[in-house]
Amino acid sequence: MTTDSKPKLKLALFGVGRLGSIRARILVHFSPRIELVAVCDPKPGSDQWVAQNLPAHIRFFSDPEECLLHSGAEAVLISTATATHAPLVLRALELGYHIMVEKPIAVDVETTRQVVQAAKEKPHLKFLVPFCRRFDDSYRRVKKLVDEGSLGEVHAVESNCLDQQDPTGFFVTFSAQSGGIFVDMGVHDIDIARYYLNVTKGLTNPKKQVNKVFALGQTAVYTDLQKTLDADNGWALVEFANGKILTFHLGRTLTNGFESCTRVYGTKGSAVVNGNSTIDRVEVRDEHGVRTDTTPDAFVLYEKSFVQDLGEFATCVLDDKPLSLTPEDAFEAAKIAAALQYSFRNGVPVFFDEEGDPIMA
Ligand SMILES: NC(=O)c1ccc[n+]([C@@H]2O[C@H](COP(=O)([O-])OP(=O)(O)OC[C@H]3O[C@@H](n4cnc5c(N)ncnc54)[C@H](O)[C@@H]3O)[C@@H](O)[C@H]2O)c1
Repeated sequence: MTTDSKPKLKLALFGVGRLGSIRARILVHFSPRIELVAVCDPKPGSDQWVAQNLPAHIRFFSDPEECLLHSGAEAVLISTATATHAPLVLRALELGYHIMVEKPIAVDVETTRQVVQAAKEKPHLKFLVPFCRRFDDSYRRVKKLVDEGSLGEVHAVESNCLDQQDPTGFFVTFSAQSGGIFVDMGVHDIDIARYYLNVTKGLTNPKKQVNKVFALGQTAVYTDLQKTLDADNGWALVEFANGKILTFHLGRTLTNGFESCTRVYGTKGSAVVNGNSTIDRVEVRDEHGVRTDTTPDAFVLYEKSFVQDLGEFATCVLDDKPLSLTPEDAFEAAKIAAALQYSFRNGVPVFFDEEGDPIMA
């Protein structure tokens, strides 16, 4: 049997912004087990974008409720502005859709908790928050090293995620809705650290995975971020309840391109992912010296992840297999991210209680 004759997952895509438009092309050209049946985006001009860039049989909806009711899909990919994720997910769960929703689920702990609880109440529906590093081949290779013990006992993770300066100031406008740099961006660093650090090992109280967090931040370039109590550079320290440590630096102000490096420290060795941010192996050597080009952004660095997560989602729905990460993973990461944002905004460390919740009075 060829792949084409196998049943495909009928999927509706919500949002064709920066990431959603990439998702749309991947769904049409690089997702053999998915049939994109509908696209929804209320933004004026989205219908034209869909007509010009996607096959004619894909239906366009400007109204999300209409799309949820009449798309003909059995699954949705929600790639919309963060603040719209929770209402869309809750309605889609109500209507019986399998759901893939971009990170973060929401900008606050209580809404995230509500969404995760609703997803858990429908275990027959798949629910995936596709943290892109988990679907990257290099990160997966390091996970294998960690799991087989090649690095010894892994005790700490150190990472950074540094965006190139954006002259359009997209993220300054985005900041009002994004939850801030630790929630929007840091959630990736938190998730990947949890992936490597075995944070549930050796716990006396399994509910409490974190002891305390602390964050600092600056507005080095984009001072308008102060209006939304946000930062363009942030530093975080997380102490997990089993003693493992995560530290990371987030930024929006690099001038050479995008850099995102993760170092995993074990007692026998360490592993570094993306220690070199060059886009390829070319060096230009001339009268200026030696120059390389930097990867421009996360969309380029994680291009393959955005294909691989959809592949896993389709396989798990169609073949009824478990996903490689759970709603709880997204929830645990969200609690730490929210605690760090609070810590930065209030200048205090945030401790976690015995229920595993951050104490943010
Ligand atoms: N590496 C990653 O995992 C990664 C990278 C980038 C963005 N994201 C996440 O993806 C989401 C989208 O980010 P973006 O940069 O593409 O944002 P964006 O603002 O460029 O696009 C969002 C789109 O959603 C549309 N939209 C808003 N409400 C809608 C609704 N109710 N129904 C349908 N469409 C709606 C908007 O009109 C817009 O076109 C965010 O939550 C972001 O955090 C994840």
